[in-house]
Amino acid sequence: MRTTVLRPRVRTAALAASVALMLGLAAAPAADAASAHRPETATLDQLAHKTGRYFGAAVDNPELADTDFAKILGSEFGQTTPGNGMKWYATEPQRGVFDFTAGDEIVKFAQSNGMKVRGHTLLWHNQLPSWLTSGTWTADELRSILKNHITHVVKHYKGKVFAWDVANEIMNEDGTYRENIFYKTIGPSYIADALRWARAADPRVKLYLNDYNVEAIGPKSDAYYKLIKQLKAEGAPIDGFGMQAHLALQYGFPDRLQENIQRFADLGVDVAITELDIRMLLPSDAAKLAEQADWYGRVTDACLTVKRCVGITVWGYTDRHSWIPSVFPGEGAALPWDENLAHKPAYDAIHDALAKAAAAKKD
Ligand code: XIL
Repeated sequence: MRTTVLRPRVRTAALAASVALMLGLAAAPAADAASAHRPETATLDQLAHKTGRYFGAAVDNPELADTDFAKILGSEFGQTTPGNGMKWYATEPQRGVFDFTAGDEIVKFAQSNGMKVRGHTLLWHNQLPSWLTSGTWTADELRSILKNHITHVVKHYKGKVFAWDVANEIMNEDGTYRENIFYKTIGPSYIADALRWARAADPRVKLYLNDYNVEAIGPKSDAYYKLIKQLKAEGAPIDGFGMQAHLALQYGFPDRLQENIQRFADLGVDVAITELDIRMLLPSDAAKLAEQADWYGRVTDACLTVKRCVGITVWGYTDRHSWIPSVFPGEGAALPWDENLAHKPAYDAIHDALAKAAAAKKD
């Protein structure tokens, strides 16, 4: 897609040099030609694209009004995820009344900038509309509400999103099912049903389960491993596993991340890093930013090493617009660009990891 941008620029520089030579002029300064080849001129997504992956960033609707922000979002990244715009409270604010305004705005931005969109999310225990959470439902009623929601939303975005987080955060830390409204009312069968309804509404979109604290090998990721294996055995349509990767320096780097990504890939599903950010206790300092950069590089490397790790999405890209400070008081500085939209060491670490993998691919 946007890797092509690189080639014409390289050719233009070469062409300019040869035209200058033909005209008997001094050749274009070597620095000019070299700068066209310099890896820093490639965006994160251009590099990722060379490896067959995307590099994306989530966005929340109000942020699109920040024009400096939107410019970088539209140029540096090849994929986006609506931070809130496709959640249940936004898409079905009243029972049976659908509102796609917020999601459509992000799809439109993505389309006009050549970006892919991940749909997020069809069901979750958070950010549900109050008509749903305050109602009392029989299993049959809730099943039909869920089916109707999934069917409408997936049909609306058919051909516009390449993947859906069908079910978000459905496991507890100890690997038991989270007792969300769907589990409590319907039981665990809601998961396979949700996948089947989504598949019926769009036969081509990739269907994911998505969660946090599943980057390491442990009880929670083990539970997903078992579930995905079981869903596959039952013939339920499961295409991918999303690791949110909301990491924090103070909790340590996730144990055996690459091995964990690989074992899901080996089950025959795609894996995506879907909501990457790496927060720290504030204030930030050079040592923490260096450690953060190292982690960003390691997460990128881990994905690049596994063939079926299809892409990485950061949850916002700048500390100017990040969900962290409001949800984790005293923490922040989690993203690769700072508040002034300047690159942090984390940006360079991601860029280096991608550039290395891109260079290892044949042009
Ligand atoms: C967050 C949004 O970024 C915030 O704006 C909102 O207030 C709360 O939700 N895991 C998820 C995302 O799957 O949907 C969450 O997004 C972050 C944690």
